Amino acid sequence: MPGMPITICASLACADYLHLETDLRALEAAGVEYLHIDVMDGTFVPNLALGTDLIRAVKQATTIPLDVHLMIERPERYLETFAKLGAEILTVHLEASLHLQRTLAAIRQLGMRAGVALNPATPLDGLQYVLDDLDLILVMTVNPGFVGQKLVPSTLRKIREARALVDAHNLAAHIQVDGNVSFTNAKLMAAEGADYLVGGTSSLFMPGITIADAVQKLRQS
Ligand code: DX5
Ligand code: ZN
Repeated sequence: MPGMPITICASLACADYLHLETDLRALEAAGVEYLHIDVMDGTFVPNLALGTDLIRAVKQATTIPLDVHLMIERPERYLETFAKLGAEILTVHLEASLHLQRTLAAIRQLGMRAGVALNPATPLDGLQYVLDDLDLILVMTVNPGFVGQKLVPSTLRKIREARALVDAHNLAAHIQVDGNVSFTNAKLMAAEGADYLVGGTSSLFMPGITIADAVQKLRQS
């Protein structure tokens, strides 16, 4: 999508945990729009990550708004928790919330923007009747749970179809991509209509390039 403004969401799970403050200052200086925070429960995904105490500390330490991605079963149990932690965007998985419309309405009611994430194998069909209730569609471009994986190619087609769905209904919803958003893949993903890019080990947090240079390179790509 030429000309569409790109929003960069830096993945906290890929930052240097022993020097988090240094990375936060670099991300602020580079002007990234969001800090993307992956929360994993060991059940929805086979991994555990980023708990509430860490998020609280990070929120106090930075001015970058928080974009929280819940990879947890029955996320409706924790909406208030993340509202209190100061999340600006709260994304739940379509596969994990049985009463999705209620969950999305509750997220908005709590003053956050509501996102829905889809695993690579999940079709867009489940979004048909919640299009008015969401602010963001997160197209997972790898299977969630681990950093450093390879792009699942069929997800590029899903990005295009998600963009078509949003445009067909004249919605302002954003299309976010998460997983292996390398400089090369970012170009392909943006061309298909993604406008929120999650930068992890494939772009923003790589050896041999500073965060400042990586952010600039990601915007250019
Ligand atoms: C998926 C992971 C990645 C993460 C890291 O659950 O959470 O999406 O953002 O990005 P990469 O794939 O670049 O390491
Ligand atoms: Zn994520």
